[in-house]
Amino acid sequence: MGGEAKPGRGIKSWAQRHLNTGFAAGFLLVLLTYLVVSQQFAVTAPNAVTTKGSRVVDKQVIGAAGDAGLEKKRDQEWQPKAAAAEEPDKKDTSGAVPTQESPKRDDADAKPFETDGDKVVCNTDGPVSETCDLDGDVRTNGSALSVTFVPSSPSERREWRIRPYSRRTMAGVDKVTVAQLESPQDPAAPPCAVTHDMPAVLFALGGLTGNYWHDFSDVLVPLFAASRRYGGDVLFLVSNIQPWWLGKYEAVVRRLSRYDAVDLDRDAQVRCFRHLTVGLRLHKELSIVPELSPGGHRLTMADFTAFLRETYALPRAAPVSLAREPGRKPRLMLIQRPHYRRFENVPGIRKAAEAAGFEVTVASPRADAPLGETARAVNSHDVLLGVHGAGLTNAVFLPPGGVVIQVVPYGKLERMARADFGEPVADMGLRYLEYSVAVEESSLLEMLGPEHPVIKDPEAVHRSGWDKVAEYYLGKQDVRIDVGRFAPTLAQALDHLRQQR
Ligand SMILES: *[C@@H]1O[C@H](CO)[C@@H](O)[C@H](O)[C@H]1NC(C)=O
Repeated sequence: MGGEAKPGRGIKSWAQRHLNTGFAAGFLLVLLTYLVVSQQFAVTAPNAVTTKGSRVVDKQVIGAAGDAGLEKKRDQEWQPKAAAAEEPDKKDTSGAVPTQESPKRDDADAKPFETDGDKVVCNTDGPVSETCDLDGDVRTNGSALSVTFVPSSPSERREWRIRPYSRRTMAGVDKVTVAQLESPQDPAAPPCAVTHDMPAVLFALGGLTGNYWHDFSDVLVPLFAASRRYGGDVLFLVSNIQPWWLGKYEAVVRRLSRYDAVDLDRDAQVRCFRHLTVGLRLHKELSIVPELSPGGHRLTMADFTAFLRETYALPRAAPVSLAREPGRKPRLMLIQRPHYRRFENVPGIRKAAEAAGFEVTVASPRADAPLGETARAVNSHDVLLGVHGAGLTNAVFLPPGGVVIQVVPYGKLERMARADFGEPVADMGLRYLEYSVAVEESSLLEMLGPEHPVIKDPEAVHRSGWDKVAEYYLGKQDVRIDVGRFAPTLAQALDHLRQQR
């Protein structure tokens, strides 16, 4: 990302390697959120995506759980497990997943058991995620994917099965068994091989990671919410480990935990902790609900983006001040997608934005670009403009007070667009503007003609289910922006920046 829009060799080769993955991941992204916002369809667990990623194996991030000779073998094994091997929970298929957890409801669902300062709180009824928080004598056996809680006084035997990925319906990610034993002398308690002073967070990779939006929404943001309060003094136990992922997000992971992550599935020794969190909790798509922050340590999505600015040493924490520097032009980054949902008239849009008073950069996502580079490029802008898609995730690097303009393709996609980006962007302290594409601006009109049901009756297409929505509105549509119709949106963005001190 960054610089002018020449889909360079980097993009091409990335695209060739990832074409299928990208398509699949992109559709899964929208599928998930589509399900989230459409109450009328039952949830079917989406298949895992094979994320072959630009393999940035970083051995420093991954703790040596086995010996170095296994490295090669592990490389092969470190692919996500075959999808859909697991039967979905009966409960999970019963209905659509709500967008957001309600703090109140959550408290009611949590099941605490306390004896002498022991505390086990498991939430397996959450609409999106399932997690356990354990305080006391906690022991992990990684290769068995089991967590044993040894109570300090006689207690009730309990067992939970927790999927440590933030979406509980995620097939292809193994569940962890969390068991609370009956007594301190229970022979089932495995002896500790290592006793750790720091707390730990156990979570899984794979799933929908590899899609930029899911990398943040499913893992980075929930992991931040779960671990930030420890100030780096926390150990990450990672199931279904993905070295490329840890490589790509190394700077972030390193700032959350100063220890090497443990490759849990291959960790045969029993580790003992005083505090362990099993699973990541997705509060809200690509955002944080402050009331749900653990440990009374209130966090917001704005805290997350501030953390990213520190992590990547991003210089700008506020947009351009037109009051103090009236001669300066605010900078707008236009994101052009590589495949579908492209702008067909980038030069026209650029001209309109320049006429409105912006300095314009056209950028194309390059998933193999070092994240710090992308972050700095985005941070040097005040406005991000793009058609609905993962590239808008880059809003996390914009200076607060900046503006995101989401162009929503034709086909009644506004609710989904708002859940994915509208709300998160507002939570980041950015101004969110939306431009809904009219049918005349959609390539679908010419492709299908005015009488086609996809053009005439989007509501009916939605009622028919996900397939046609994905096929047409998301997968076959490009947009040609009517710059006259778009001008007020650009003016609104400028007005917002004028109001900044
Ligand atoms: C950990 O689990 C594995 C696999 O179930 C088992 O073979 C091993 O004995 C366990 N280790 C300990 C110390 O209990």
